[in-house]
Amino acid sequence: MRINPETVERIKQAADIVEVVGDFVSLKKKGANYGACCPFHNEKTPSFNVNPVRQIYKCFGCGAAGDSIKFVMDIDGIGYGEALRYLAGKYNIEIEEEELTDEETIRQNVRESLYIILNYAKNYYQHQLHNSDEGQAIGLSYFRERGFTNEIRKKFELGYSLDNWDAFSKEALEKGYSAEILEKAGLLIHKEGSHTAGYDRFRGRVIFPIHNVAGKTIAFGARILKSDKNQPKYLNSPETEVYHKSEVLYGIYQAKNAIRSLEHCYLVEGYTDVISLHQAGIENVVASSGTSLTVEQIRLIGRFTPNVTILYDGDMAGIKAALRGLDLVLEEGLNVNVVLFPDNEDPDSYVRRVGAEAFKEHLKKASKDFITFKTEILLQDAGNDPFRLAAVIQEVVNSIVKIPDAIKRQVFFHRTSEMMRVDEQMLITEGNKLLRKQQTAKSNERPPRQPNGGQQSSSGQGGFVPDGPDDLDTLFSDGFGPFAGEPDGNPFVPEEVAPETFQRTKLHYQEEAFVRLLVVHGARELEPTITVCQYVLGQIEGIELKDPVYSHLLNLFRENFNRNNVLTTDYFLQHSEVEIRNLTIEWLTQKHELSELWKEKYEIYVPFETDVLDRTAFNNILRLKKAFIEEKMKVCLKQAVHAQTEEEQHAIMTEYMFYKGISMAAAKELGSVIG
Ligand code: CTP
Ligand code: MN
Repeated sequence: MRINPETVERIKQAADIVEVVGDFVSLKKKGANYGACCPFHNEKTPSFNVNPVRQIYKCFGCGAAGDSIKFVMDIDGIGYGEALRYLAGKYNIEIEEEELTDEETIRQNVRESLYIILNYAKNYYQHQLHNSDEGQAIGLSYFRERGFTNEIRKKFELGYSLDNWDAFSKEALEKGYSAEILEKAGLLIHKEGSHTAGYDRFRGRVIFPIHNVAGKTIAFGARILKSDKNQPKYLNSPETEVYHKSEVLYGIYQAKNAIRSLEHCYLVEGYTDVISLHQAGIENVVASSGTSLTVEQIRLIGRFTPNVTILYDGDMAGIKAALRGLDLVLEEGLNVNVVLFPDNEDPDSYVRRVGAEAFKEHLKKASKDFITFKTEILLQDAGNDPFRLAAVIQEVVNSIVKIPDAIKRQVFFHRTSEMMRVDEQMLITEGNKLLRKQQTAKSNERPPRQPNGGQQSSSGQGGFVPDGPDDLDTLFSDGFGPFAGEPDGNPFVPEEVAPETFQRTKLHYQEEAFVRLLVVHGARELEPTITVCQYVLGQIEGIELKDPVYSHLLNLFRENFNRNNVLTTDYFLQHSEVEIRNLTIEWLTQKHELSELWKEKYEIYVPFETDVLDRTAFNNILRLKKAFIEEKMKVCLKQAVHAQTEEEQHAIMTEYMFYKGISMAAAKELGSVIG
């Protein structure tokens, strides 16, 4: 069953953002809005804002944003359906449900059955560990030997699978679970053509249940206890409908609160590393479980914090091999640090050897930011060989340009230029070349949006108004839930973007400010019966915007206006395209966040006060026109250089002077007379 759209609509209407959020944090009135310390990250000064008119919230610190439903989902770590049910309960709304299509029902039922059988299996293995003779003698004594306490075994729901071909499946089948679902859950292995139901996948191993963010068991890791060269040390569940290995981090459920409140996540390799560190009091830790890190896993971490420290064990060769892969983490805008452990030690063995305090001390002392770490390692390798040094420079610059934040890039250019004893400007120039390449590659795929590129998630599930199935738990179980593409994708990199970032031109900013004016204020009346939209559109006839999305938005306004229809902000908040919804939230919540420097340099005025709106609208138009003219002037100058004849040159310069006249007039009008 699925909650029907009418009910969803009723819930949305009833659920007042101030009331809903107010149940979880204490809000203080701030002008028309409300403020509080953000419940999603740790902070002392409030940067969390609730807008009662728009019915949205946004944190300027961590970027969390959305509507009532999204708030409930995130604060409780629950699915869309569950959040709706919670709100329906709060507002006494009767939930009407509708039938799913057959296919949906089957899918949902399969997933639900999988959760049920996996939960059953988890309990079964736990029971065997603590209650069967074999479990106690072999499994329990093994965990005790490793120093895992009773408490920690419970927390991670550790278990034991008997050394027997079908002990588990026999019992499960007797309980009425079908062989088919056992097989789908990865618990039963059935050989084609065999007459028996099959045999247990996990036999004679200790069991590490793997949980999704919401705490449901979705898979198992199972460690062998005897030394058998023919058997892998760990046997894991296969990919199933609820377990996609590449999207899962072991321990995320147990770690998420600590990660959130400490604003930091440690990343280790193994199940036992996670558990040992928890026992040592370090709870903000997850494991990639032996695979190399995937984008989905990084984004999962990014939902909770932008700060990751990777704890490396193992040999240098392995570490070097892993370095390249870490550019991915940079690309996602996370701050990456690295800690090395002595040879032949992993975090688990090390913490057991030196104890919790010394371990924490090591984390502090040995922690290096990733770029520095990488540079050092590569430099050591290259020695004095100039060719290899050049390669190192390329490699390091390559990583730096993956960082979406321009200011951070500057810092790293500076730092690494000192480490490599090369000219900083040279690094920047190299970097800019790569950035430009990156930019063209990207703009071929997607229009430029935020200056700190790489923001869009390609997961196709972003946005704060999920259209997805009611069964959103399962979306969480998919690893990162419906909001991998957060309203601003990568909310963690502060929005400060250095003016020298060339990824966006002045014109592009002007275009944005202009479209933002329409989207945010378009339906407002300047005078009775004259809307901002009407006024603005009338002033810019014939002008097309370069950015494809802005241009699309402008044309939407035009088309609708021609049909006597003025598009409202709500229209864009409800838009079917997530990118547009997110842009709208962004624009609605944008404070005057362009730095002063920026404003001066680009003359961007962010209209906010509605009482000066007509002047604002006018100025914006002027600015847009001025920016267009200036683009034309630039083109003239370029052409002038290549002019073949004096006549040609003269003609171009005349045109140039003509534009210059307009531009100066516009500047004067704007009160920003230049030169
Ligand atoms: N792993 C796996 N399959 C294997 C070996 C390893 O899935 N055959 C994964 C497991 O998640 C394991 C992690 O890789 O936890 C790290 O492997 P390893 O360092 O060999 O194991 P530890 O976690 O250190 O386990 P232990 O201390 O019990 O040896
Ligand atoms: Mn180990």
